[in-house]
Amino acid sequence: MQKPSVLVTRRWPAAVEARLAENYDVVLNRDDKPLSSMEFREAIRQYDAVLPTVTDKIGADAFDVAKPRTKILANYGVGFTHIDVGSAKNQGIAITNTPDVLSECTADLAMTLMLMVARRAGEGEREVRAGNWTGWRPTHLVGRKVSGKVLGIIGFGRIGQEMARRAHHGFGMDIVVYNRSLVPAEVLARYNARQVDTIEDLLPQCDFVSLHCPGGVENRNMINATRLNLMKPDAYLINTSRGEVVNELALTQALMFETIGGAALDVFDGEPRINPDLAQCDNLVMLPHLGSATKEAREAMGYRVIENLNAFFSGQTPRDRVA
Ligand code: DGY
Repeated sequence: MQKPSVLVTRRWPAAVEARLAENYDVVLNRDDKPLSSMEFREAIRQYDAVLPTVTDKIGADAFDVAKPRTKILANYGVGFTHIDVGSAKNQGIAITNTPDVLSECTADLAMTLMLMVARRAGEGEREVRAGNWTGWRPTHLVGRKVSGKVLGIIGFGRIGQEMARRAHHGFGMDIVVYNRSLVPAEVLARYNARQVDTIEDLLPQCDFVSLHCPGGVENRNMINATRLNLMKPDAYLINTSRGEVVNELALTQALMFETIGGAALDVFDGEPRINPDLAQCDNLVMLPHLGSATKEAREAMGYRVIENLNAFFSGQTPRDRVA
């Protein structure tokens, strides 16, 4: 029997690319160059499956194909707001993602950011590398204590819960949650967390606020000037979700005028382009979208795509079908 043809849009870990090639007729992107929207349209015309990732913008124009051959977009990554889901559905194309396997590593990175910004680790690192460190002194780069503080988590899915686990059981933090739907009492009880009804209820209570909600149109600018003003003047904002969730102009102003204590971002609106004003803020830590960037998570994400493909091509519903 002929193997399904599969296009992988970016480089993947070598072990996963090799496993994929065992059962599929695979075309790899050896140069790791992002595809254009015309190339996506061509791919949807040509391949049985396309395996995109979170930086591939697959808009309505990519689906404007008379007879698409593609039956599934098996996304490498948990977020799928970069895919025009309505157009995929209209063409009868299934979409899957890769949840669970990156939750721990993404929460580890959110903890890293929280500690870095509160303890001024970014500033310290920049100072040492620039040769500007003049030695220990009682008033040097004094930050804020993290242990025992109040952490607000916006979006209490798998990653939000892993963040709560680390913060509560590791750092004795008090957890407050905002989530669109009601979180079961037994889930909240695992972290001794309490759920509030609105983001407005959550913000004024917290020393740290960590975002773990999806991106997309619905959550664009969720954290705007009005909401930043509700944060305590010494509170910190952490974002490992999607860049568009935070209004970067409002954040820059809050950081420059010090109406909040600081922020730490792993994601940016329009990344990899960075608003140059952000780089002027010393009380900001910036990382280049590293949430799931471990060997373990990136391989597991790839194997999860393969699991979804195998299910799909053997006539079953893939466990991570999202559309
Ligand atoms: C995702 O999977 O959505 C992350 O942003 C990258 O791991």
